[in-house]
Amino acid sequence: MYAVGHREVPALKPDAAFWTDYYEKNDPSEKPDPVFFGEVQELEPGAAIDLGAGDGAATFALAELGWQVTAVDFAENAVLRLEERAKARNAPIETDVADILSYASDAKYDLAYLGYIHVEPDQRPPLLAHAVATLRPGGTLLYNGFTFEGTADGENHTESFRALFAPLGEVLACLLPTGLHIHYAEQRMRPSTFSFDEPGSEYMSVVVRGVR
Ligand SMILES: C[S@@+](CC[C@H](N)C(=O)[O-])C[C@H]1O[C@@H](n2cnc3c(N)ncnc32)[C@H](O)[C@@H]1O
Repeated sequence: MYAVGHREVPALKPDAAFWTDYYEKNDPSEKPDPVFFGEVQELEPGAAIDLGAGDGAATFALAELGWQVTAVDFAENAVLRLEERAKARNAPIETDVADILSYASDAKYDLAYLGYIHVEPDQRPPLLAHAVATLRPGGTLLYNGFTFEGTADGENHTESFRALFAPLGEVLACLLPTGLHIHYAEQRMRPSTFSFDEPGSEYMSVVVRGVR
């Protein structure tokens, strides 16, 4: 497991091999992130794309709220697990095994969700531009990510690890050229949903919501 908090953790590598291995060894699903959950409750359900869906924590939460969800991830084993769970729940979820740095689809969505997608700094502009491009005009982009900004937690980590966790300003710098109308962009402490954390643990997160 990786986390951005206070402990020593193995390196996070933002590639499919890392995440495939991660899902071989972990089953992280089932706990919708509370920041995401609060945000989507305010939106009218429609068609959503969950970009970097993993094994579907947000996907299933959206489906239960009435969204038609397409879940995309480059870790095939995570997508297979998500599909098995969708079948067992009779949830009509579409899936795609694909790289979201270059993801393009003919369908356009009312919501594009990027939840905790931590990539190299030079991968952020294409990631966010492609996410915005999946939206129909008037569709909402919701970005959630961990950040070290405003915390002392980064001290235990290498510079290359810290670089994967974009500060708010960098997320905005990638989004502004896309023409997205930013509704708000802020840092928020969020409660941990990680089972290995002490009760009451929190992480700093970046939350951006905008409309195309
Ligand atoms: C920390 S997990 C977050 C999963 C989910 N969004 C959530 O909030 O629970 C990051 C996910 O993004 C996926 N991911 C990272 N980079 C990706 C890329 N370039 N293309 C597709 N999926 C990617 C990983 O495979 C992993 O499932």
